Amino acid sequence: MTAPAPAPAAAARLTARELTLAYEDRTVVHDLDLAIPDGKVTVIVGPNACGKSTTLRALGRLLKPRGGSVLLDGEALAKLPTRHIAQQVGLLPQTPVAPEAITVGDLVARGRQPHQRWWQQWSDADETAVTEAMERTDVAALAERSVDELSGGQRQRVWIAMALAQQTDILLLDEPTTYLDISHQVEVLDLVRQLAAPTPAGERGRTVVVVLHDLNQAARYADHLVAMKEGRVVARGTPAEVVTEDLVGEVFGLDCVVVPDPVTGSPLVVPGAPWQPQGPGTSAAPAGPSAPLDKKPPLDKKPPLDERPTS
Ligand SMILES: Nc1ncnc2c1ncn2[C@@H]1O[C@H](COP(=O)(O)OP(=O)(O)OP(=O)(O)O)[C@@H](O)[C@H]1O
Ligand SMILES: [Mg+2]
Repeated sequence: MTAPAPAPAAAARLTARELTLAYEDRTVVHDLDLAIPDGKVTVIVGPNACGKSTTLRALGRLLKPRGGSVLLDGEALAKLPTRHIAQQVGLLPQTPVAPEAITVGDLVARGRQPHQRWWQQWSDADETAVTEAMERTDVAALAERSVDELSGGQRQRVWIAMALAQQTDILLLDEPTTYLDISHQVEVLDLVRQLAAPTPAGERGRTVVVVLHDLNQAARYADHLVAMKEGRVVARGTPAEVVTEDLVGEVFGLDCVVVPDPVTGSPLVVPGAPWQPQGPGTSAAPAGPSAPLDKKPPLDKKPPLDERPTS
């Protein structure tokens, strides 16, 4: 009997080969190999300062590799014309800076620059792309407002609108949910999934790479999850493959249990309880670092609520 053939590797327009990234003499990403699967949502997770934004910036050619390369359709980004890259790859950085006193409408319209030509400054396609991007991010009513005077969450959605208006096949979003209230977080992540979904005509959707801090959102929305630590990829695969108690311990130094998300079935990380149940006569002060999970009293041993002391 012959061994089954390995599954074919997913197609990937954007790849990193032995990518090394540095700021002056400090290397922060080491020899990274990464293939971003086409038409899927890739989520990058990892602790602060592990190199997520640095990697994303290199994938969007905002940062030149110190070693190795980023390839788009097999060609090193460094060799491709800027306009071509801007038509294919959109990047929303972690802390974008708006030109002073620009209005929301004008900022979103800047997303169309890679598609404009000197002989045709603004087309119907530009108008449609901007209108649609503003509607999908719920900022159409802010069009005339100055970006400077928006709340953090409003401003974040305007930046996402600008990235959407660019209408690139590949979209790189660095912490797009920062500043957003919970319902706008879910809206933005649902939008990410819609962008990557196949079209009704059966064509593949867009390729999206998102940096997220919330592991549970990452596990819910990712097709492909990449966990980084200290400038290296330590795990990659489906959320079920990557989000394990061992991995969360190794990457984040956090005790947790992983249970199925009651809504989606994806892995749900529940941090080890930072408190101990308080019995009569015990101090009300919070307990110290959480005890190993197997030493914690099982939840079902707690007395029923109506038998607990009321004072
Ligand atoms: N412009 C810069 N100049 C010098 N060092 C930088 C610069 N940007 C980032 N670094 C350093 O590179 C390392 C990786 O930073 P990076 O922003 O990629 O981390 P991150 O994983 O995105 O973190 P966070 O979750 O906090 O956003 C950090 O040690 C950071 O201090
Ligand atoms: Mg970052």
